[in-house]
Amino acid sequence: MLNFDDQDGQIWYDGALHDWRDVKLHVLSHGLHYGSCVFEGERVYNGRVFKLREHTERLIKSAETLGFEIPYSLEEIEQATLSTVEAQGFADAYVRPVAWRGSEMMGVSAQQSKIHLSIAVWEWPSYFSPEARMQGIKLKWAPYKRPSPECAPVHSKAAGLYMICTLSKHAAEAEGFDDALMLDWRGQVAETTGANFFMVIDGVIHTPTPDCFLDGITRRSVMALARKHGIDIIERAIMPDELSNADEIFVTGTAAEVTPVGQIADMKFTVGPITKTLLEDYDGLVREPADAENSAA
Ligand SMILES: Cc1ncc(COP(=O)(O)O)c(C=O)c1O
Repeated sequence: MLNFDDQDGQIWYDGALHDWRDVKLHVLSHGLHYGSCVFEGERVYNGRVFKLREHTERLIKSAETLGFEIPYSLEEIEQATLSTVEAQGFADAYVRPVAWRGSEMMGVSAQQSKIHLSIAVWEWPSYFSPEARMQGIKLKWAPYKRPSPECAPVHSKAAGLYMICTLSKHAAEAEGFDDALMLDWRGQVAETTGANFFMVIDGVIHTPTPDCFLDGITRRSVMALARKHGIDIIERAIMPDELSNADEIFVTGTAAEVTPVGQIADMKFTVGPITKTLLEDYDGLVREPADAENSAA
């Protein structure tokens, strides 16, 4: 497999498309040393970026939350994304916009730093058939907890917040699990390292209130799909000892889409009808024309 820094193609960087291998930043960049960096993860289905507006708005908001302004408008960022998708030419792909403070100041304070923006697109085919995804992933409790809004800018998709996600996911993988399930600082169930959490009890969906983690764009789409089926959704604090009562558990995210959970620590779950319905509905939604997508969610 090729390294991410050694591929053919083009990456949009600070206003124009450049050869993939030429897009470099200096080692003395504030974003690298002090975590002044925000990003997005988007998916292209059939050549169209799903929920581009929502992702671009969140990117701008994430940067504002870290105290910097991306020097391009919403429309300019959307246009740059579409140009990069077109230049790369993949029908099914992943889009990674990233914005960071540059090299002008190398200290905690970096008020005068230039803000950079880059957008890369790489191929991401739909690897998993619905049958394969229906096996259910295995989750292990994470060693780290999501911080409170008083301890970190929790609603920003900030690179620094992923430090505890990588550590938690590595710990899970080391013991043969697929991912880690994180509690928050209060001990309530929060989310996995890159996806939102849902459980089904007696036909009702329960999901943690997103008050200290991302209110995912996929989360909101899937909740809209569930409501169309007349399924009730309760957003509330969920304690870990409640999970043994769940009939079904699934997670949602741009990368995860709708992924059933088959195991959490030593608790086992079967993949049930609500998860299957939402998984299929979501697979349909992402490939619908934009007008239909917007009316559905
Ligand atoms: C930590 C975390 N939570 C939740 C999500 C789900 O968000 P979305 O559905 O907007 O991709 C993601 C993925 O971006 C994530 O990284």
